[in-house]
Amino acid sequence: MEYTFAERVRNLSGNAIREIFKVLSDKEMISFAGGMPAAQCLPAEKVKQYSGELLTENPVKMLQYGETEGYMPLRESFLRYVKNVGIEGYTVDNALIVSGGQQGIDLMFKTFCEKGDKILVQNPTYLAVLHIARTYQLNPVGFDCGEDGVDVDDLEKKIKEHRPKLVYVVPNFSNPTGKTLRLETRKKIVEIAEKYDVVVIEDDPYGRIRYAGEHLPSIKSFDKDGHVVYITSTSKTIAPALRVGLTVADERIIRKMAICKQAVDVQTVTLAQAVVERFISTGEIDRGIARSLPIYKEKAEIMLAALDKYMPESFVHTVPEGGLFIWGEFTDGTSAKAKFREALDNKVAYVSGNDFFADGSGDNTMRLNFSNATPEQIETGVKRLSAIFTK
Ligand SMILES: Cc1ncc(COP(=O)(O)O)c(C=O)c1O
Repeated sequence: MEYTFAERVRNLSGNAIREIFKVLSDKEMISFAGGMPAAQCLPAEKVKQYSGELLTENPVKMLQYGETEGYMPLRESFLRYVKNVGIEGYTVDNALIVSGGQQGIDLMFKTFCEKGDKILVQNPTYLAVLHIARTYQLNPVGFDCGEDGVDVDDLEKKIKEHRPKLVYVVPNFSNPTGKTLRLETRKKIVEIAEKYDVVVIEDDPYGRIRYAGEHLPSIKSFDKDGHVVYITSTSKTIAPALRVGLTVADERIIRKMAICKQAVDVQTVTLAQAVVERFISTGEIDRGIARSLPIYKEKAEIMLAALDKYMPESFVHTVPEGGLFIWGEFTDGTSAKAKFREALDNKVAYVSGNDFFADGSGDNTMRLNFSNATPEQIETGVKRLSAIFTK
């Protein structure tokens, strides 16, 4: 049969990373694509233990329908946890548990945006945000990242020019660049949001994965009257398949998002929420992060050293203080996009940078993930890359 798909999905192609996943089943492939936590950081034993305890202690609560806004003990514990990033003075009415941070972004777009609306994003930005924007037929416009991830002058200029519905920012160890906003930049973003009355989404899945430098307060911590919506997730700090994240926002926003969430998945899985609650309230989340950090630090250092040793001189890269990504750029214009197929044929995968740019530019850039490959694979994979790019 000929299907007549809705206009909003007719011209959509899959998210580039999901597409890459399809070729990764090849055992020989070394993947610097994806953004997966290291396999050895996934806390299977604790998840098993907490799930067993919870199902024994309160089987009905765990398996029955629950509140769309989230499992109450988790909303309370999560709100205590985000005091770490200076988010204080909020009640459970300001908290919505989401099925991963990505759902929080999706619900924000659904709550605020009409077809054709503009949203501002870092150039480059998290590619799933571009993908979500397309499903709502929005127009994402990029602003410059500058040194630390947000060029505040360009942000202000683009707000004046485009009057966006929302601004989307990743403050820490950004996906894809690995950049982290300076303290002054965080404060300035709030000033700009207040001046132009625009809502900023602060998407912070990586903030706790810091293995160098000092933790910084969130953008939200400087927000006085509801201009910033903070989204975080336990995908990188516990396990992505649990699909548990948090949104903190003005309660009027939370109410609208909850109505939208009800229509999508009714609620986030209670057992997963309760397991996450136990990780937070027992301090196990922080012990797990503390165990993971040296692993990520080591892998990042191995990749950085290998890039410096093997890649051509025209290749420059960021040096992240945390998170899972290094961003590379060929200053001579070499196209990472054009070489991608050859890289796959040579059993190494990365994400071509253009997928992260709202305007599709950035052919000469690439995102490299170092968390999921072993140290040996990182070394071998970078050698394979260098063989392709030094030809
Ligand atoms: C910047 C950013 N935001 C959100 C997400 C989505 O995370 P979650 O698994 O919580 O949906 C990711 C995942 O890679 C990400 O990199």
